[in-house]
Amino acid sequence: MIPTKQALKRAAELRDLLNEHNYNYYVLDQPVISDAEYDRRLRELQTLEAEHPELITIDSPTQRVGAKPVSGFVPVKHEVPMLSLNNAFGADAVELFDRRIRDLTRVDAVEYAAEPKLDGLAVSLLYERGLLVRGATRGDGATGEDVTQNVRTIRCIPLRLKGESFPPRLEVRGEVFMSHDGFRLLNEEQQRAGAKVFVNPRNAAAGSLRQLDPALAAARPLEMYCYAVGQHENSELPDRQFDLLKLLARWGLRVSPLAEVVTGADGCLAYYDKLAGRRLSLPYGIDGVVYKVNSLALQEVLGNISRAPRWALAHKFPAQEETTEVRGIELQVGRTGAVTPVARLRPVFVGGVTVSNATLHNRSEIERMDIRVGDTVVVRRAGDVIPEIVKVIEQRRPKATRRYRFPDTCPVCAAHIVYEGGEGVIARCSGGLYCSAQRKQHIKHFASRKAMDIEGLGNKIVDQLVDTGLVKDVADLYRLDASAVAGLERMAEKSAGQLIDAITRSRRTTLERFLFALGIPHVGENTARLLATHHGCLESVAESSEDDLQSIPDIGPIVARSIHAFFRQPHNVEVIEKLKSAGVSWPAPRPGSPSTAALPLQGKVFVLTGTLQSMSRDEAASRLTALGARVTGSVSSRTDFIVAGAAPGSKFEKAEKLGITVLDEEGFIGIIGKVTDTNV
Ligand code: IVH
Repeated sequence: MIPTKQALKRAAELRDLLNEHNYNYYVLDQPVISDAEYDRRLRELQTLEAEHPELITIDSPTQRVGAKPVSGFVPVKHEVPMLSLNNAFGADAVELFDRRIRDLTRVDAVEYAAEPKLDGLAVSLLYERGLLVRGATRGDGATGEDVTQNVRTIRCIPLRLKGESFPPRLEVRGEVFMSHDGFRLLNEEQQRAGAKVFVNPRNAAAGSLRQLDPALAAARPLEMYCYAVGQHENSELPDRQFDLLKLLARWGLRVSPLAEVVTGADGCLAYYDKLAGRRLSLPYGIDGVVYKVNSLALQEVLGNISRAPRWALAHKFPAQEETTEVRGIELQVGRTGAVTPVARLRPVFVGGVTVSNATLHNRSEIERMDIRVGDTVVVRRAGDVIPEIVKVIEQRRPKATRRYRFPDTCPVCAAHIVYEGGEGVIARCSGGLYCSAQRKQHIKHFASRKAMDIEGLGNKIVDQLVDTGLVKDVADLYRLDASAVAGLERMAEKSAGQLIDAITRSRRTTLERFLFALGIPHVGENTARLLATHHGCLESVAESSEDDLQSIPDIGPIVARSIHAFFRQPHNVEVIEKLKSAGVSWPAPRPGSPSTAALPLQGKVFVLTGTLQSMSRDEAASRLTALGARVTGSVSSRTDFIVAGAAPGSKFEKAEKLGITVLDEEGFIGIIGKVTDTNV
């Protein structure tokens, strides 16, 4: 069937529309039509093309996926070599780089295009008359591999350039990478399928580009930012790198929005600091920044040495993964007895700090990775989280090592370790407060800011108080006198006096703080607040049955059982009595304080974001829970209200997207004020 004029016209319209949508969605990140509409139009085009196969063009959005698997990759010789970059690790090297450029070019203040150094792999895209005809990896810089079929599946790469002003033959270069989220989802899927798990997003991106079956590559969440031009024919390019980036963007290619023009070494270093600060909040990995002399004419003058340009420098962030050695495996016992294995490491500099410990999470993690004392391992530090071991380098395992055996007894008090949780992953010391490790953690929790708030009672002091036997339980804190405290190591008389004062001050507290301070397993600040509001007094909480406790919204069976059991332990009751007789007290409930039924915000779910002028977030949460509302940390479809103070975070945007009622401070005060006046 020969396509009619209308079919021809409609196919062209649909192609343009769908390509435009792809561009808005994947390049600009600003979709203008819904996914459903996109799918409808795509199906329409697919139907048209099925009826008239001669309508199919190489840039049709139906043609991204669908090429046949290949048996290997054809080599591609790069007409213009794909260079690498010289690396620098410190400010000195950046200053030296800038000085050399000033000397060589006799320019006083050199302008640089500063860009993020993306952690992926360099790829070349060849466009002929605006159509993508080839995609290739960098390879060794002289010869790469033809990965056209896979590159075509990457949605942010245009199959046809926009506009008309592009050179008839144009090679664009950039970095193909995978976002953190994409990487995580891919690995979860790989794990489920029993397939290979990738060690980092860069390896995952490289592996995906080298998939022989483009259908598999298409399922991999690859992205690209373009940053350079290779070969190009019959055309004038802009005379600055930054303008080149803008031009690439006009042709529909995706370029990093983080590129900037800076001047001199100072400008470069300020840019480095800025990106170092943003690094962890970016959705993809960058391992440094790149400075490129902005003037392409000066780039030409400067030229290359061996395989790196003289006009560019990669200023790398400190590595966040390092290899080191496991010197020991020790067990830490937490407040509730959870036993966490920790690796003691040969100190190593990772991501800007010296790391000598890494968490091993739990027993099954050690078993899964078979981490042994003496092993050489890769440690990773991501932001402020506790460093962890990523893998064991088995080739470097010394001969006489033994598999680690998780002990049956607590290393501190020798009580039995019991295993809980799915597959028994949580090891717990059964020694309770007889275990001095648990006791120390318990006292630290009791004294912490949101509990009894005893200023100056730090970890070292608690350790000494327990080790010397001065404090056996939290009630003993209130029997301490300044002279005993002054006898501790590194404790001057003045600070001893201050600590005693702080302990004295903490006697006046509130019921919710006291309940939280008791350290009842599963009772955090929120639950403590709920208990205090619903019961009004400690006796009522202590006497409640599990069923009574569960009648409070948000208290489930596990928490109820834990609270109930806590008050049935003679030791706990004894400590509470001791605390009360030592003078720990809280205001009695006001007559007529809210009963469960009368709570005006009962069942309403609130999320707080941003800074409030009239009260702290903690206070706002307290006021809300006192009125029966539940305050949660994240926005979901079950959220009823979001209270947005000044500079609200991403929760605000999410709430707006979900159509949740947003209250500003005035509106919030209006609600709590109104219900407080009428009902409480
Ligand atoms: S320019 C002649 N710009 O870093 C300059 N490279 O170490 C060639 N890279 O192979 C590269 N982000 O894979 C340039 N903004 C950026 C980059 C970047 C990442 C990678 C690229 C290159 C390697 C060199």
